[in-house]
Amino acid sequence: MRNKILFGNWKMNKTNDEALAFAKVTSSIVSLAKEHHVVLGIAPSYLALETLKMHTEGIIIASQNVHYLDHGAYTGEISIPMLKNIGVNSALVGHSERRTYDNETNEKCHLKIVSLLQNDMVPLYCVGETLEQFNNKLTKKVVEEQIVEGLKDLDVEKMKKVIVAYEPVWSIGTGLNASPEIAIDVISFIRQTIEKMYGKEVSEQVHILYGGSVKPNNIHSYLSSDEIDGALVGGASLEVESFRALLTAII
Ligand code: 13P
Repeated sequence: MRNKILFGNWKMNKTNDEALAFAKVTSSIVSLAKEHHVVLGIAPSYLALETLKMHTEGIIIASQNVHYLDHGAYTGEISIPMLKNIGVNSALVGHSERRTYDNETNEKCHLKIVSLLQNDMVPLYCVGETLEQFNNKLTKKVVEEQIVEGLKDLDVEKMKKVIVAYEPVWSIGTGLNASPEIAIDVISFIRQTIEKMYGKEVSEQVHILYGGSVKPNNIHSYLSSDEIDGALVGGASLEVESFRALLTAII
């Protein structure tokens, strides 16, 4: 049985002070999550990573991005050793906003995933199609390419640690959710693709989340399916009470 995962992606929101205020009131949410075997995660801005690490317990704190090299002349980037130094052991890779605005290709995602796994860190790999691709019925072709190119040639044991998030680009921040049927269909397809690459035992251990306009009033429709292991949530993860409501809706 895979645990359910509730992961917040704060994107470019919250000052350090705001992150601290959030962190200070999470303990009751963490206790509730533990009681119901739900794994919690938050990906704040780089500046708030250490704040959340220091002032929360029982929440996976993830970076929203990371470079695949350890150091060098890459202005504006951060590295795996920097994250590990403050106790951060997870990073998002290939979020659609980074694919769109920062030229994050499948190839680059792959390099990042390899480096993260070599360092015993957990990559949260985001995949998903644009509206145009969805309308042209290219969802599975696009997602298959993202999975095959991003997750190729990994150590089989390490592959089990990867978390995948299916986030259709057209549903992110738009209120246009993919229906649970679509999410289940694509997520099952992702699992089959991973099975072809790494076998059934591995594919059954990989957590696959849905993301895109997930709110307290719709999260249950996704997570009530055994196929969907959790949610990656943007807007609705920003306020403590909304984060708590997401959790209470799935336990
Ligand atoms: P929203 O929940 O705001 O649609 O964002 C989803 C997302 O991009 C999470 O990574």
